[in-house]
Amino acid sequence: MKSKYIDMKNSNDYNKIKEPAESLKKGKLVLFPTETVYGIGANALDEEAVKNIFIAKGRAQDNPLIVHIADLKMLEELVEEVGQIEKKLMEAFWPGPLTIVFKKKPIIPARITGGLDTVAIRMPSSVIARKLIEYSGVPIAAPSANISGRPSGTVIEDIIDELDGKVDYIIDGDKVDIGLESTVIRAVDGIVHILRPGKITKEDIEKLGIKVFIEKQVLGEYNPNEKVMSPGIKYKHYAPTTKCVLVFSKNEDRLVDTINKQIEGKNAVVICKTQNLEKYNVKFKLDMGNNLEEISRNIFTLLRKADKLNTEIIAIEGVEKEGLGLAIMNRLLRACSHNYIEC
Ligand code: TXA
Ligand code: MG
Repeated sequence: MKSKYIDMKNSNDYNKIKEPAESLKKGKLVLFPTETVYGIGANALDEEAVKNIFIAKGRAQDNPLIVHIADLKMLEELVEEVGQIEKKLMEAFWPGPLTIVFKKKPIIPARITGGLDTVAIRMPSSVIARKLIEYSGVPIAAPSANISGRPSGTVIEDIIDELDGKVDYIIDGDKVDIGLESTVIRAVDGIVHILRPGKITKEDIEKLGIKVFIEKQVLGEYNPNEKVMSPGIKYKHYAPTTKCVLVFSKNEDRLVDTINKQIEGKNAVVICKTQNLEKYNVKFKLDMGNNLEEISRNIFTLLRKADKLNTEIIAIEGVEKEGLGLAIMNRLLRACSHNYIEC
C-alpha cells in the first residue's frame, strides 16, 4: 500500500485516529468511513487541501462538497443562520445521514461550494468519523470515496483498488452500514426540497409536520436547459463501463421474464434479489439481498463486481420508488444512464 493504512475494523482503540487527524488538520487527505459511504476528507478551512480532493477524485470544480461537523458549535462558525425547519431536522436526524444546505459564512472557501453562497453540512453518526473531526478540531470537507463518475466506495477492497496512493491515509472501518450517500435537502419558504434521496426519506421528514417536495431531477434525466438546485445532478455518476439495463415490475414473474428476454443469447450478468437467483438462465448472478436495507448496503460494490466480469450487459432488478427505494432507484437510474424498462 502507498497510502498509510489504519486498521479500525474490529478496533475501538481510537488513539490510532490521532495521527491521521493531526495530518488532516495540516493539509493532508484522509480517507475514512461514515455510516453512509466512505469519504475523502480534508480540512474544510484549508483551500489548498480542498483543491487536492478535487485532484484526487478528478472532480468537476463546480460540484460542491459536503462539510462534516462533530458538534453544533462548529455549525455556528460555518453558517449565517439556522431556521426553524433546519432546527427541527437537526434535532430529529443529527447525528445521521442527513445533509442540510445552509447560507454560508465567508470563512468557507469558495472552492468547497463551487462558488455558491450556500454550503451543505452533515453531522455523521459514525464514531470513527466523529473522532476524526474531534481530534483534528476542524470541519472536514468530504465527497464520497470514488473516482468521479464511478460508484461510491462502501467496502475497503474497492477503495484501495481505486484510491490507494491518491490520499495520505486510509482508515479501514469495515463495510459501511447504509451503503448509499446521505439525503441532501434544502428548506425554501417553509418547504423541504429533497435534492438527493437517501436513508432519511420524504416520509421520515413529513412525520415532523414539514412539507416535502422531491426535486424532479431525482428520477429524471439531466436537462441542460433546466436550473438545478444541486450541481451534482449534472454529472455522470455511479456508472459501470459495461452497458446496463434496469428493469422494474410489481409482478415478479413479469420482471424475471423481461430480464431473461433482455439477456437472451448474450454474455450477461444479472444483479437480482436473493429470492430470484434461481430464476435466471445466465452464468453470472449477483445477490443484492432481499430487502431495501440489504440492497442499499450491497448495490455499489455489486456494480463494481459486475463491471469486472466484462460481459456485454449488466441487467439489474429495480425496486419500488418509495421510501429508501427512491434512493436506490435514483442511483440505479443514473448507473444505467436511464436505460430503464417498467413492465
Ligand atoms: O453520505 C454522504 O453524503 C457522503 C459521505 C462521505 O458523507 N458524501 C457525499 O459527498 O456523498 P459527494 O460530494 O459525493 O456528494 C455531495 C452532494 C452532491 O450531489 C452535491 O451537488 C451536493 O451534495 N451539494 C453539496 N453542496 C451543495 C450546495 N451548497 N447546494 C446544493 N447541493 C450541494
Ligand atoms: Mg459522490
